[in-house]
Amino acid sequence: MKYLITGGAGFVGSHLADALVGRGDSVVVLDNLSTGVSENLAGVSGSPLFKYFSGSILDEALVEELVGSVDHVLHLAAAVGVFNIVDRPLESLTTNVRGTENVLAACKKHGKPVLITSSSEIYGKNSSGPLNEESDRIIGSPLKSRWSYSAAKGLDESLGYFYFSEFGLPVRLVRLFNTVGPRQVGNYGMVVPRFVSAALDGADLVVYGDGKQSRCFAHVADVVAALLLVIDSKDAVGQVFNIGNDREISIMELAQLVIAKTGSSSAIVSKSYDDAYGAGFEDMSRRVPDILKIKRVLGWSPKLGLEEIITDIATHLKSSK
Ligand SMILES: NC(=O)c1ccc[n+]([C@@H]2O[C@H](COP(=O)([O-])OP(=O)(O)OC[C@H]3O[C@@H](n4cnc5c(N)ncnc54)[C@H](O)[C@@H]3O)[C@@H](O)[C@H]2O)c1
Repeated sequence: MKYLITGGAGFVGSHLADALVGRGDSVVVLDNLSTGVSENLAGVSGSPLFKYFSGSILDEALVEELVGSVDHVLHLAAAVGVFNIVDRPLESLTTNVRGTENVLAACKKHGKPVLITSSSEIYGKNSSGPLNEESDRIIGSPLKSRWSYSAAKGLDESLGYFYFSEFGLPVRLVRLFNTVGPRQVGNYGMVVPRFVSAALDGADLVVYGDGKQSRCFAHVADVVAALLLVIDSKDAVGQVFNIGNDREISIMELAQLVIAKTGSSSAIVSKSYDDAYGAGFEDMSRRVPDILKIKRVLGWSPKLGLEEIITDIATHLKSSK
């Protein structure tokens, strides 16, 4: 099979490219390197099974040409990271909505199956217990840039789903919860690489708010294994799957664990949300995935814990210094 990965130079996309080439598939990557880096593709760039195109998903003609040249499309390109979304809301919205429309229109034109990568952010402020695929979305005002990513990803899912239900396009939808591991960068607000990097440098680990907010973190290797099951399964067509790890940890406990695992002498300091993101920033107190559906339909469950995640990120950061 020949796959197009949009956003393939990014964190998740590059691990997916490694896995597909590793099993003998061909991969074409389209990326504009806005948050991705070409070093992420070092493992595949010399392979005859791999090709890289520099460009944007907003370039309709390029998207159409590349979609027409492959068997299957994996759409991961997006403007991501809280700081990017809050600082450049219009650019983020355009990338995340118009880019997905371009990809879907090209897939329809050429009759190509497509995976759309959505996010647990679509649940917005819903901080209730484990969130399943049917859980409600609770999002704030459309005038708050913080919610524009949630709105765009929700629209992407709807667009994908209705291309499936109205045109019969084989669309698969996944909602990734916090995914972490080597190659993820901390400067867009991703908490685990930010903490590990600070711990290795002996710098303060900055916890936003009181640190009681909890999150769950999946290792990117587990997430890629789930993505392969989804794209290989006919049962996944027209479906949405939550993908994540359901072990919950508070951000304060995470900071303590990172310090313990890295043997760091760093201190933990607090910063208000307003100071971190600007006045009026809203966050959810809890974010836990319900992953029963993907367990039942595809037999997937996460295998790697936070300890492995921290060790792998620390090893990666040390080797890239
Ligand atoms: N990592 C997570 O925890 C997480 C959680 C939920 C959803 N997701 C989704 O998974 C996907 C991959 O995220 P990631 O964590 O690997 O982020 P990432 O920033 O590493 O990857 C996104 C990639 O898209 C590229 N890109 C951005 N705009 C583009 C454009 N206009 N044209 C072409 N390429 C463009 C970037 O350069 C980058 O390589 C995204 O769709 C994201 O919304 C990720």
